[in-house]
Amino acid sequence: MITITPLEAPCAAEVRGVDLTRDLSDDLMRALSRALYEHRVIVIKGQQLDKPSYQRFGEQWGEPIPHVLDHMRMQDHPAMMTIGNTEERDKDDRVRNGAALWHTDQSYELVPASATMLYSIVVPQAGGQTHFADMAAAYDALDEDTRAGIDDLVVGHLYGQTRLRDDEFNVTALVGQQQVDAVPACWHPLVRRHPVTGRKALYAVGHGAFRVRGMDDRRASDLLFSLKEHCVQPRFVYAHRYEVGDVCVFDTLSTMHRATPIGLPTSPEDGSARLLWRISVRGLPVVHRHLAA
Ligand SMILES: [Fe+2]
Repeated sequence: MITITPLEAPCAAEVRGVDLTRDLSDDLMRALSRALYEHRVIVIKGQQLDKPSYQRFGEQWGEPIPHVLDHMRMQDHPAMMTIGNTEERDKDDRVRNGAALWHTDQSYELVPASATMLYSIVVPQAGGQTHFADMAAAYDALDEDTRAGIDDLVVGHLYGQTRLRDDEFNVTALVGQQQVDAVPACWHPLVRRHPVTGRKALYAVGHGAFRVRGMDDRRASDLLFSLKEHCVQPRFVYAHRYEVGDVCVFDTLSTMHRATPIGLPTSPEDGSARLLWRISVRGLPVVHRHLAA
């Protein structure tokens, strides 16, 4: 029996009673997508997935996206990546903590992610949380004049362009001209209506947002930074501390997120190892594809 329990937090709900290796029915996916769009983040507890079953679950949410950082893709599942501190490449602080800044997955691409999921396999005894900012609630909390002033603005995005807060890390750097060429600057609305619910949300005012159409760059930078500061206030943010077997799905069209900076394990037994599998998708969930027609 599926249970969906809102967390005592600004957003997010916990889902129990689901085995994603056995049931990916339309009824289940409708229940999960309803919960996702109501709460922005859902945490499906107690899963035991291999890569093919996780991939099948990911495909229910949209079209999996092979990441522009192609050297970090899983070789046998190119739309999946490992996240954590256990890979050889994680010895580089800038790679290991390259998501420890507020961002929205693939906002630097013409067709950005609509959902991302993180499946938790190894959990550190301390740290390792993912922080989620509810961008629909943050939009609703703006005063009427501010909303009217920004509703029709269009924002330029470019990978690596970021005005960082003091507590943010730089995004993982692109490697080579091919990766740079794969993500030219693009434009997205500052305020989006959700394609399923129609609810408005601020979109992607973190990493990558660097310009506003028709506005001088200094003013645009100040506006985007002030909106980021608004969205990441504790009243809009849920920090998820993982348990092994969590599948955390988040609506990337109405959230921003950031990783908690994490160090390297000093030994396999020191309790600080962290490993998640990541899938991002674009487009609509299979059960909502009729909306695109
Ligand atoms: Fe991310």
